[in-house]
Amino acid sequence: MFTSAIAHKNQLIPQDLFAAIESLKKDLNAIILAHYYQESDIQDIADYIGDSLELSRKAANTNADVIVFAGVHFMAETAKILNPHKLVLLPDLEAGCSLADTCPPKEFAAFKAAHPGHIVISYINCSAEIKAMSDIICTSSNAVKLVQQIPESQPIIFAPDRNLGRYVMQETGRDLVLWQGACIVHENFSEKKIVQLKIQHPQAQVIAHPECEEPVLRHADFIGSTSALLNFVQQNSAQEFIVVTEPGIIHQMHKKAPDKELIPAPPISNCACNECPFMKLNTLEKLYLAMKNKSPEITLSEDIRVRALKPIQRMLEMSK
Ligand code: 13P
Ligand code: SF4
Repeated sequence: MFTSAIAHKNQLIPQDLFAAIESLKKDLNAIILAHYYQESDIQDIADYIGDSLELSRKAANTNADVIVFAGVHFMAETAKILNPHKLVLLPDLEAGCSLADTCPPKEFAAFKAAHPGHIVISYINCSAEIKAMSDIICTSSNAVKLVQQIPESQPIIFAPDRNLGRYVMQETGRDLVLWQGACIVHENFSEKKIVQLKIQHPQAQVIAHPECEEPVLRHADFIGSTSALLNFVQQNSAQEFIVVTEPGIIHQMHKKAPDKELIPAPPISNCACNECPFMKLNTLEKLYLAMKNKSPEITLSEDIRVRALKPIQRMLEMSK
């Protein structure tokens, strides 16, 4: 079927990767779920693109036998927690998350023990071990709503993202005990350069992800999850948007709102460090090879999986 091929790490890669992946998808009864920060080709071949909450919902409700997760490890791990009997593939197992890495389980267990009587609400960007120590999982799209559902008298630990936590405190008026974790990508946007861009584009709306630091969020006209930012660009009447999150999302923004001008917010130094280095480890070639070899797959201990499942299910119920 595939007339020509090129070699990649001693494995043959067909030249028409799109056709090869489509064919494997049928053979495996697979679904490809992709996050907006994936490279454009991966977004284009995916069956479903979404933010973390939408991708978890999709993973919880799929009839596919194989879930190919084009995202980072904690996202694919969440899909596995929800689907223990399905094969869950991640194109590159090294695709981790700097934010998840800022919350090691041993240190977090000690932090939790130092705050008796607190419930733990953890942002989905954390390992299965941290989820297993949590009462409720949240994402950037439902964190405010979930915290609002907890009685005022109940003290809360919020982990691992200090920026999302501070934003939730501001929106809800609640006092949260924050774990001091952060994302290297979202803490790298330059407030000064965003202010300069605003002067050059006075009509532009600044839209930002809540993982950004407070001095940056202060300049935002709208703050939301990746999907919320995408919807805002489609629905808002402005013609220009300064986008303060990983620039992978701009591919979908261009597709959904082709007439709008989208300006990626610049990082502090002249590097490409507003791109998530973990998300970008996945490539179309690796996605093809993962499907062909049915590897690398996500595995985790049944004990941790069962304990991590509960707070995820609570999130899905509370954010219906
Ligand atoms: P969203 O859930 O908003 O897509 O965010 C995921 C993420 O990792 C942002 O850095
Ligand atoms: Fe993790 Fe940040 Fe990458 Fe999102 S952008 S996956 S929080 S490192």
